[in-house]
Amino acid sequence: MKARQLYTFFLPDLIPEGLLVDSVSVVIDILRATTTMTTGIANGATRIVPCVGVDQAHLTKQRLLDGLPEPMSAMESTPRVLLGGERLGKPLPGFDLGNAPETYSPSAIGGRTIVMTTTNGTRAMDRCRGAHQIVIGSFANLTRVVQHLSRAHRVALVCSGTDKHVTCEDVLFAGAVTAELSRLTGDSEPPWEINDQAELARSYWQQLPTGSQFPTTESILSVFRRSLGGSNLIAQGRGVDLEFAAQIDRFDVLPVLDQSIWEITAAK
Ligand code: MLT
Repeated sequence: MKARQLYTFFLPDLIPEGLLVDSVSVVIDILRATTTMTTGIANGATRIVPCVGVDQAHLTKQRLLDGLPEPMSAMESTPRVLLGGERLGKPLPGFDLGNAPETYSPSAIGGRTIVMTTTNGTRAMDRCRGAHQIVIGSFANLTRVVQHLSRAHRVALVCSGTDKHVTCEDVLFAGAVTAELSRLTGDSEPPWEINDQAELARSYWQQLPTGSQFPTTESILSVFRRSLGGSNLIAQGRGVDLEFAAQIDRFDVLPVLDQSIWEITAAK
């Protein structure tokens, strides 16, 4: 039986040239880009358009607005295209939303397009261009991501990191996916061949104290609190975002980035 391949990369810069071509690539930025995008899509955003730069985000918003029909009435209170994201964790001037997942609520973003730019996450998505498929992963949709990957032959788990440094929460999620995929592989299915970074990530996940099916939320949170990305957010008074991001399977949704139009929507 031919093995399937599962690679983890602790940073986008560690991906060898050409490796993603026939991989389902999962972009991981637990604190907070991919958690927030998962939340936005689950809560009814029509689409999320990731942009690397702030200027690009403004231009993209204008382009999308120009392509929409005129508003039905001047009373439409929430614009149909919203700008969201952050730089160094902080909301951007002139943006409608920051990058805190709980602010992407149904009332705030339902039925809206969100143009998003974040320090590391949207950059990691850009690095995955050319992959067979790009999906958005977070603890908020762990099981849905694992179910999807269980049908793939080659998987790349791409950790975004924080400012080009490896960050624990992304590695922990890669470990969770690796452990779950290994656990769910039946005897008649091809095994997963994993790289050393996947092996390290899986061991990291498996050393946490287990609750029922998964490690306890408190043990996941304790990793987040010690991490580079997590301690930056705590210093900014955003500890609540860590608590949100540590909850497993809040949503049963698979956000997929369509590379032909560069938009994230929910897989059917
Ligand atoms: C990022 O993309 O760098 C992160 O999501 C940062 C953050 O939200 O603070």
